[in-house]
Amino acid sequence: MCWIFAYVGETDSREKLVNGLKMLEYRGYDSAWMVGLTNSSEVFIEKAVGRVSALATKVASKSEDTKLYTTGIAHTRWATHGGVTEANTHPHVSTNERFYIVHNGIIENYKEIKASLESDHTFYSQTDTEVVAKLIESLYDGNLKSTMEKVAAKLVGAYSLAVIDRENPGTIVGIKLWSPLIVGEATDGIYISSDVNALAALAESYTILEDHEMIVIEDKKYSIFLAGEQVERASQEVEEGQKIDELWNFTSYTEKEIFDIPSVLENVWSGRINFETKEIKNETLDALAELDIDRICIISSGSSYYAGDIGGYFFRKFAGIPCQAIISSEFLADTFIPEKKTLYVFLSQSGETADVRESMKIVKAKGCMTFGIVNVVGSTIARMADYGLYSHAGVEVWVASTKNVIAQVWVLLMVAVALGKSRDMQISDVRDLIAELSELPDKISETLMQGPHIKKLAKKYSNYDDMFVLGRNYFYPVAGEASLKCKELSYIHCEAYSAGELKHGPLALVSPKFPTMVFNPMGKFYSKTVSNVQEVAAREGPILWFISKNDTHNELYTDTIELSETSELLSVFTGLVSSYLFALYLAEALWRDVDKPRNLAKSVTVE
Ligand code: M6R
Repeated sequence: MCWIFAYVGETDSREKLVNGLKMLEYRGYDSAWMVGLTNSSEVFIEKAVGRVSALATKVASKSEDTKLYTTGIAHTRWATHGGVTEANTHPHVSTNERFYIVHNGIIENYKEIKASLESDHTFYSQTDTEVVAKLIESLYDGNLKSTMEKVAAKLVGAYSLAVIDRENPGTIVGIKLWSPLIVGEATDGIYISSDVNALAALAESYTILEDHEMIVIEDKKYSIFLAGEQVERASQEVEEGQKIDELWNFTSYTEKEIFDIPSVLENVWSGRINFETKEIKNETLDALAELDIDRICIISSGSSYYAGDIGGYFFRKFAGIPCQAIISSEFLADTFIPEKKTLYVFLSQSGETADVRESMKIVKAKGCMTFGIVNVVGSTIARMADYGLYSHAGVEVWVASTKNVIAQVWVLLMVAVALGKSRDMQISDVRDLIAELSELPDKISETLMQGPHIKKLAKKYSNYDDMFVLGRNYFYPVAGEASLKCKELSYIHCEAYSAGELKHGPLALVSPKFPTMVFNPMGKFYSKTVSNVQEVAAREGPILWFISKNDTHNELYTDTIELSETSELLSVFTGLVSSYLFALYLAEALWRDVDKPRNLAKSVTVE
């Protein structure tokens, strides 16, 4: 996957491209490159394997080159086709070195296209993108716009593409299908980007392209076309919340985003819940409550999947509606039996995850009801959904999803209560629950204050190579999410199990070298989970307990992290937050690059 950025204007593009790539880097950081064109067709090319900072250093070292490369395209790559090598980091160019392209997505039929072009072109890389560069040359009809219409007709897959023509500096043509493409307007020129966040600091307004649309930038203006006809669309102003915030005194964005959680909650519930009147008030929730639903199916990936799985417990408990959470790639792999009375819920921070997007396409094609809970405003999944609520977590910059998971879980809880209220849930129970939830920001702040204690424990546990994480009921998916975060950030092997499941096989792995983390707040399942953990203790497995503050069975525990003194429900949120701190500090103890874990990218737009 390559995330793309482009600029046309009066001034030199190189610094703008580097800055744009830095903002997009969270989406992939295997390699980066850029091409600039002067108005007299001179070309500037730079590439670097690794981080955008490596590209920035190379570009800066060429400061003696004072030409104005006023047209430029750039990309940052997360390897899909072909390894992280110099050759695959090459700017993708046609054989005649006239057309340079940047591409985000996957061209599924690239092998067939390549085979049809092989007699006339020599390929220097294994990438699907290079094939498109060659295809542009072979279909070129004297006009880049009409050529790109022909190119689009040949491509199968998901793509957003931007092309520059060495013989027409000042022109960029972009096309898109499923992958995002956004154009930004600024006083210094026109930008193209894979996301709004990268544009937010540079442009004053932006327009999101729809599928099959084409953007043509020439003569310092841009026009959008659909099937050859010009499309009129008002641009939207960039809002403050779309800009990537400063790091302030935090050591990583991951840490900052965890500490942002109490304030994120205020955004999430604004306009949705009134704590004074203890009411849920929201048009979308009211509309959902009117729907004739007898089942809910939640489809998502990674952390969003675990948030969805927690949501499943809420729907069953508060709304009495059967609910199943499914990993989106498995949804795609399974037989889909459409159900008209099922609400299909799609959760995604980025709103661009390919597995989720493709699942949604299948559900929509059968005319079923879709509901999106998405963080990035205007993203593909958000725009595809019949109903939707934004998670309003603010920009999540780097790879680990944290504050957005909390926001997703919160939104799911609101939906479950709104549906419950219109069914059998008593108004007094709704009011009690809202009163309880009003304490959440304070409880999370208390959890965050345990940072130094959690750091000390993380240091100790960073000495292990493997870990189990156990939980029951709500805390089973909480354990799943905790284990994902530990793996992703620290690279320690960490597996989640339902507490009751350990004895059915995995217990064989427990030893003094194999610790177990356990989420076990006071509540209905407390004693059962204690019994399960005693089975671990009997095998001398070290145990780290996540317990309620009022837990009196201290004699059982070796190491503890306190969740909150209140309910099981609030402990879901504080449990997640404390596990985020634990994973963060585990990673820091092992000197990991917390914001940019190896092999990963923030937004996965390939299946
Ligand atoms: O943008 P999405 O929520 O759809 O992304 C889904 C996963 O790729 C994402 O949650 C991933 O698992 C995170 N890196 C976890 O921290």
